[in-house]
Amino acid sequence: MPAARRPSLERIPFTAVLFLAKLSASAIIRADAGPAGDQQKRTMMAVLIDQNTLDLISHSEEQTRRFGAYLAPFLAGGDIICLRGELGVGKTRFVQGIAQGLQVEGPVRSPSFTLIWEYTTPAGLKLFHIDLYRLGDAVAESLAFGIEEYLYGDGICVIEWSERAEPILPADRLTVEMRFIDDYKRGILLRAGGRRSGEILSAYRAAVLGHAPAGSP
Ligand SMILES: Nc1ncnc2c1ncn2[C@@H]1O[C@H](COP(=O)(O)OP(=O)(O)O)[C@@H](O)[C@H]1O
Ligand SMILES: [Mg+2]
Repeated sequence: MPAARRPSLERIPFTAVLFLAKLSASAIIRADAGPAGDQQKRTMMAVLIDQNTLDLISHSEEQTRRFGAYLAPFLAGGDIICLRGELGVGKTRFVQGIAQGLQVEGPVRSPSFTLIWEYTTPAGLKLFHIDLYRLGDAVAESLAFGIEEYLYGDGICVIEWSERAEPILPADRLTVEMRFIDDYKRGILLRAGGRRSGEILSAYRAAVLGHAPAGSP
């Protein structure tokens, strides 16, 4: 082939180089995320801020439920999950997902007028859904003793409006902070406060993203 007709990098249009670069980048993401196509999507939806933090975006009520359900297999008696965020952001939906994942009997509705709802999994594990929305600070304090019994008991505690009981919560808890992005989109920031919640988050991250990040335990 005459030298003038040989393709060289300088002769390839810049847009084509960009296109090739994009192709290989997406192949790397796909290989990283594993064979399932939706794993790639999940990888791109989630942001790992540090080892103890994971930021997810839910695009629907159903997806928020699923994010809750993914957590269920990693929970054991004594674990504490705290949900924070404004009214209507989706805390109860997330709890419903956890309950579904744990295969508890019956629907889980927001217990706005009930402080604690109890469920039992088929394996005999207790799930306590605690909603502190209706509590004023003074009441919260007076009830603190009662709640502590659950916090340090052998069931799983999932607490909505956990900030109302902040002073009595153990540091080693998984906090799920939800925020509005638009009508259907929600930000879900998960933060581990200690060793046990760190283990839960690590396993959860692997389940949600389809792989564990480099350097994770
Ligand atoms: N991505 C989403 N995740 C969760 N809920 C959503 C989402 N998009 C819209 N919603 C709606 O937001 C509301 C959330 O209600 P709920 O879970 O009871 O909130 P909270 O317990 O935080 O007060 C529901 O009406 C639900 O249909
Ligand atoms: Mg609620």
